[in-house]
This record gives sequence, C-alpha cells and structure tokens, in this order.
Amino acid sequence: MNRAVEYLKYVLHARNEHGLHSPFLFELYNEVFKSPKQFYCFDELEAKRAALKKDHRIIKVSDFGAGSNYGGGSERAISKIAKQSLKSKKYAQLLFRLAHHLKPKRILELGTSLGLSTCYLALSNSKTEVVSIEACPNIHREAKDIFKHFKIENVKAINATFQDALPELKGRFDIIFIDGHHDGPACLAYLEALKKHLSQEAFVVVDDIRWSQDMFDAWMEMKQDPFFQVSLDVFELGILVLRPQQSRSHHILRY
Ligand SMILES: C[S@@+](CC[C@H](N)C(=O)[O-])C[C@H]1O[C@@H](n2cnc3c(N)ncnc32)[C@H](O)[C@@H]1O
Repeated sequence: MNRAVEYLKYVLHARNEHGLHSPFLFELYNEVFKSPKQFYCFDELEAKRAALKKDHRIIKVSDFGAGSNYGGGSERAISKIAKQSLKSKKYAQLLFRLAHHLKPKRILELGTSLGLSTCYLALSNSKTEVVSIEACPNIHREAKDIFKHFKIENVKAINATFQDALPELKGRFDIIFIDGHHDGPACLAYLEALKKHLSQEAFVVVDDIRWSQDMFDAWMEMKQDPFFQVSLDVFELGILVLRPQQSRSHHILRY
C-alpha cells in the first residue's frame, strides 16, 4: 500500500464539521478533532517522549505480531522503540481529547509498548481506569516505570498476549484502543471477541488502518459491520461508534 497515494486520497475526501448533521458528531468534531486546546500534561509527556528517543539502553524484546516493528533481532534500543512504535504527538493528543470529552469509566488498550499513549489516556481523567495489555515483559516493565514516573495510579498494566488476556477480561469498556498486532484478520478477530465488553455507547479506536492492504480491508469490513452505527476515519485511526439511537453514517474527517 502506497501511503503517499493513500494520504492524497484521504485529503481529497476528508471533510470538516460542515458535513456532520448530527449534533452529537458536530460537537465531537469541534471538541475533539478541531480543538486547539492544550492540556497541562502535554508538555511533560512530550518531554518524556523526547527523553525516550535519546535513551540508548538496549533491552530484549519479543515480537508478537505485525506492527510491533521489532523485526531484525530480539534486542532493541529504547530510543528505536520510542521512534518507531509510539503513536505520534498528534494522534496521542487526539486520544487524550477523546477520553477527556467522553469521560469514560473504563478504557482498554491493546498494545502498551512504552506506555506513552496509555499515559495520555490515563491523565485525561484520574477517575478513569485504563487497562493496557503488552506481551513483551521487558517493554511492559519499562512502561510501568513510566507510569510510576508520572505518579499514574489509574492504569492496570497486564503482561500477556492479547490472545491470552482477552478471554480473562471482566466487565465493559467505554473506549477500546487496538494498537498492536497490525494484521487485518487478527484485528477483526479481536474486535469480534471484544464486542461483549463494549458499554452501551462505546468507541473502538483502531490504529494504523492504512498500515497494509489487509489492515485497510479489515477497516472496510469493520465499517460495514451493522453492530456499529458510526465510523470516523482520520487517516491513521479508524473509529467505530456504538450509538443505537444514531442513524448509520460514515465520515472521513479532516484532522
Ligand atoms: C504500536 S505498539 C503500541 C504503542 C503504544 N500504544 C503507544 O502509542 O504509545 C504495539 C505493542 O503491542 C505489542 N503487541 C503486538 N502484538 C501483541 C499481542 N498479540 N499480544 C500482546 N502484545 C502485543 C507489541 O509488543 C508492541 O509493544
């Protein structure tokens, strides 16, 4: 998949709030996607990202799926993980604003890595519980150190594969962020398994929908799933919204 071509197609099709007739989506767009609001923790989290990019400690990593970016050996510098695997500032801050706007009770993240996106989600509201799953034990340990550094107490970090952790999950989540194992059929299977854990008006955020042709095909299939009423496409992320009172609609949004 040629990302430059895909980006051009996205830009040509993306629309702003004027294409959104539902008051719910109009407000969501203005508060979450268009808002220039900066929050108190953004600078600190970006300073941490910058420090991680300069952290040359080497750790042993295990590769658990497409998109882990650990190809080429089982040892990896923290700096490389920080540069290659974490959601960028732009999208991490979008996750924060989404969580800040929706005020979820519980969030589930598949793919903690060093925990930067987890921190963004957790710091959006100290009352929100964030459950985050990471299979690689050494990366999981690094993430826990980062949660400690920011004195974050509302994260439950689970060291397990998604395959092992999902059947053990309890309760429902208001936001689920799928950011690991970027393989189309695997993501479709995770989504299916997670449906029974979605709260009544839940959001599912799927990362890297244009990572590969099979991820894009999976996104197309997710969008058509009648289980969800709304889909929002912001190039890197695809967002599915469960909102039974809303008529079905699909939007490619400028972000
Ligand atoms: C893209 S990174 C997550 C980045 C993180 N969400 C952020 O933006 O800060 C994906 C992570 O998922 C983990 N992962 C991939 N497949 C997995 C699986 N099947 N089970 C558990 N963890 C997995 C990888 O080890 C990697 O650390």
